[in-house]
Amino acid sequence: MSKKIKKILLKKKSGKIVSLTAYSKNFAKILDKYCDIILVGDSMASVLYSMENTHTISLETIIQHSISVRKGIKKSLMVVDMPKGTYKNPTQAKKNAKLIIKKTKCDAIKIESNNKNFKIIKAITEAKIPVMGHIGYTPQFKDKFKVQGKNKAEFEKLIKEAALIERAGAFSIVLECVTPNTAKVITNLLKIPTIGIGSSLHCNGQILVTDDILGLSGFYPKFVKKYVNLDRIIEKAVKKYSKEVKTKLFPKNKNFLYGK
Ligand code: KIV
Repeated sequence: MSKKIKKILLKKKSGKIVSLTAYSKNFAKILDKYCDIILVGDSMASVLYSMENTHTISLETIIQHSISVRKGIKKSLMVVDMPKGTYKNPTQAKKNAKLIIKKTKCDAIKIESNNKNFKIIKAITEAKIPVMGHIGYTPQFKDKFKVQGKNKAEFEKLIKEAALIERAGAFSIVLECVTPNTAKVITNLLKIPTIGIGSSLHCNGQILVTDDILGLSGFYPKFVKKYVNLDRIIEKAVKKYSKEVKTKLFPKNKNFLYGK
């Protein structure tokens, strides 16, 4: 087990896991100072590519962005999402997980659970590739957004699912939009850390989409906290640049590469 994974596992006992998404080097470089985990999430499908959902983002696109992100990370654990359709059976999953690791030099991959793919997770972990699981609202498999674990059947199903993912060898698990009680029970039950998104303080850590917390995505459900309106800051800078070009205030002599 790598030192980075060990460090994440230790957070089960004390501290909180800080995690955010990145799709490029420049963002990853800033996040790296403050995050334990940086995820190249398939959320890039909607955030970057304006796709309706995450279902059609390709493996090549995820790999391309991951290669860029890798260049910005020095210390955080880098996790790459396996896109939908790239882990339909153990053989395909192992082949694609190995390809992601080889091309991107990431530390681990993330797989969304459909409550059936435990053997697939096991095949990847047995190939010595660390896996982060993902349960609750899993956008690759659920079309409509809904809080998970509200009734007894759902609650019990999620607990069993989390336990089976741990048994399959995952080193951590994302709990997306599960009720606080579901998060509490799963976090207490599992030995591996839970990382919540819209799943309460009971989790061992939190993850959010970076563009959401920066006010760039236009997507702000209740579980997102917008820390800054970066869209307004960018607009202000672009407006000033536009004005300066039009009024010939830019470029100045000091911006010339040579002569006057
Ligand atoms: O794709 C993603 O960004 C994710 C996180 C929101 C957990 O899966």
